[in-house]
Amino acid sequence: MSRKLEGKIALITGGSAGIGLATAKQFVEEGAYVYITGRRQPELDAAVASVGSNITAIQGDVAKLADLDRIFAQIGKEKGRLDIVFANAGFGDMAPLGSITEEHFDSMFNVNVKGVVFTVQKALPLIPDGGSIVLNASIVDIKGFPAFSVYSATKAAVRSFARTWTTDLKDRRIRVNVVSPGPTDTPLLNGTFTNPDDMKALTSTVVMGRLGRPEELAKPVVFLASDDASFITGAELYVDGGAAQV
Ligand SMILES: NC(=O)c1ccc[n+]([C@@H]2O[C@H](COP(=O)([O-])OP(=O)(O)OC[C@H]3O[C@@H](n4cnc5c(N)ncnc54)[C@H](OP(=O)(O)O)[C@@H]3O)[C@@H](O)[C@H]2O)c1
Repeated sequence: MSRKLEGKIALITGGSAGIGLATAKQFVEEGAYVYITGRRQPELDAAVASVGSNITAIQGDVAKLADLDRIFAQIGKEKGRLDIVFANAGFGDMAPLGSITEEHFDSMFNVNVKGVVFTVQKALPLIPDGGSIVLNASIVDIKGFPAFSVYSATKAAVRSFARTWTTDLKDRRIRVNVVSPGPTDTPLLNGTFTNPDDMKALTSTVVMGRLGRPEELAKPVVFLASDDASFITGAELYVDGGAAQV
């Protein structure tokens, strides 16, 4: 059976854990060569070891433009092009309106919004015509969960970018799509919902009654990145066990 990403060069920001790491594994299984990024070198090293081959880690923070320049310079030097970008790095913290601090606001907008804008913009010179960009948003981009206002706004911005960039890039036939996970069993989620009762309440919002597994997010990202999605652009694919659909 032919593999869906044979010969493709891909970048996954935030590829050392959770959804990004599961996607890196799936991309490599489908024939891609994958670059992953993240801030912590030991986690990157462990991720590379767990994937095995056809993967390179480059340390860097998506919110730091000099780090992005260094990452794209290395990919350009080593491979000369980048067929697929999965702008995945991001995080969410909670703060109800009334206790939002400047630090809370800036930290999330810097990573989730500024990081996505400059990841994609700085990748563009390496992306050939016909390339594919996938952005990781969240179901919160259409929901109003308590204490999640700043995180939700960053993800609504991500969803918006896919619409505009689809038109900006149409002459180059570069497709831009969004994957929007529901609650998914990753270090991010487990670090945010440390109280078992909160986790139970969160899980109960999912129609399927369970958290998503990172591999269940990775497969739809493969689909959006691949030629199977050749007529899909500007779209948002919810992968949420029904959480935001009913
Ligand atoms: N898990 C969920 O339930 C869920 C639901 C909806 C949406 N999402 C979205 O899915 C994406 C991935 O989440 P996840 O749950 O897989 O998170 P995760 O388990 O915490 O993994 C996040 C990855 O991103 C890296 N990262 C974080 N900040 C970064 C930065 N500033 N620059 C570069 N890399 C960075 C982390 O490594 P370092 O910490 O070493 O940098 C790690 O490799 C995020 O955009 C998140 O908002 C997740």
